[in-house]
Amino acid sequence: MTALSTQDPASVLDIIRYNYGEDVQEGYNYLRTHFPVLQGNDSVWNVFRYDDVQRVLKTYQQFSSQFLNRPLGLVMSDPPEDHTKLRLQLAPFFTKDALQFLEERTAAHVDALLEAALSGGRETFDMIRQLTAPLAQVVLAEFIGMPTKDGPLLQEWSERFLMSEFSGRANRDDIVSYFQQLIQARRNEPTPDLISRLLPVLSEQEIVMFALQLVVAGCIPASDGVGNAILCFNEHPDAWTTLRADTSLLPLAIEEILRIRSPLPFFRRQAVQDVDVSGVTIPKGAVVRAWIGAANRDSEEFTHSELFDMQHNPNRHIAFGFGSHACLGAPFARLQMRVVLAALLDRFSSIRRADAAPLERSAPLAYGVRQLLVSYKY
Ligand code: HEM
Repeated sequence: MTALSTQDPASVLDIIRYNYGEDVQEGYNYLRTHFPVLQGNDSVWNVFRYDDVQRVLKTYQQFSSQFLNRPLGLVMSDPPEDHTKLRLQLAPFFTKDALQFLEERTAAHVDALLEAALSGGRETFDMIRQLTAPLAQVVLAEFIGMPTKDGPLLQEWSERFLMSEFSGRANRDDIVSYFQQLIQARRNEPTPDLISRLLPVLSEQEIVMFALQLVVAGCIPASDGVGNAILCFNEHPDAWTTLRADTSLLPLAIEEILRIRSPLPFFRRQAVQDVDVSGVTIPKGAVVRAWIGAANRDSEEFTHSELFDMQHNPNRHIAFGFGSHACLGAPFARLQMRVVLAALLDRFSSIRRADAAPLERSAPLAYGVRQLLVSYKY
């Protein structure tokens, strides 16, 4: 904190946008405390307090998701019209019950990936490259209806979108044409996957747009969630022991991991009018980043906000957003985190980072790590 206070806010903004680790958490606290509403050098506005972030995310009448003045699928449209209609059509496919069927397949993939990672009695493995990333790819690919062998494409595409806020719409022709072909194949021969089940409900264009959004939302962040969990347990080995003794605490632990290391650190909106936020006027037309990662560490909302505490209850974190755009895939992500962590807890009495290399961020728009070498004890 002291070191940060000598830096200008713009360089602290760079830290929270590109780094991973303690300096990001300090950066969140510093900016939230001293510059709760801050315009960066790129002219984008940034909002850090819990209440303000919630307000920006939910108040679509003032902060629109509909950039470019036209609706672009679920994520980039506003209620009540385009967004509400689509959301109502899609919601039934994403309830906890509707996704229950994923549990068994996910567990089988975890077993197979772990077996490969540990084969030959290796003492270390890469938690991200050998487990969480390929898992997120294969589970999402199967769910959407892509051939399993195409799972790695999801990683590549997800990275493409999460590398920069401003290039998301570039270079997507190959992805669009991939999904157009997949839709055609499913029209000819339906299979029990999401694309086939959406065919009677949505137009081809709507399905392609939604598939694009699943690519961005459902791959890297889901993998990051588990990597972040391992990094939490690395700092708190006692929590690992507690969970092994009582796995019923796992859902609480997962919420706390999502709070303290939120895998999607911010989402953007555009101000549709001049809006006063914590005494600062954000002008009409301004693009605003609502910093979920900083909000989830706000001591005004969370007691001991800096501590990883599985008993944080109630835990009103907003890692999955807030309001009408709150994450549709939250039950999907929670299930994946629960299944992987349960398998790891079942197998290993301890699991620790095995090197001291600087942690590299998975992507600038995500908060997770690109690789994570771990050692383990049975
Ligand atoms: C831990 C992993 C994940 C995190 C932290 C996360 C977080 C979020 C957040 C913060 C939003 C709100 C966006 C906004 O306000 O504009 C969101 C929206 C969304 N997420 Fe997730 N997500 C995760 C995983 C997933 C997965 C696995 C899926 C799908 C399988 C998914 C599908 C979606 C969709 C479709 C939306 C758009 C909802 C809407 O605009 O109405 N997410 N997610």
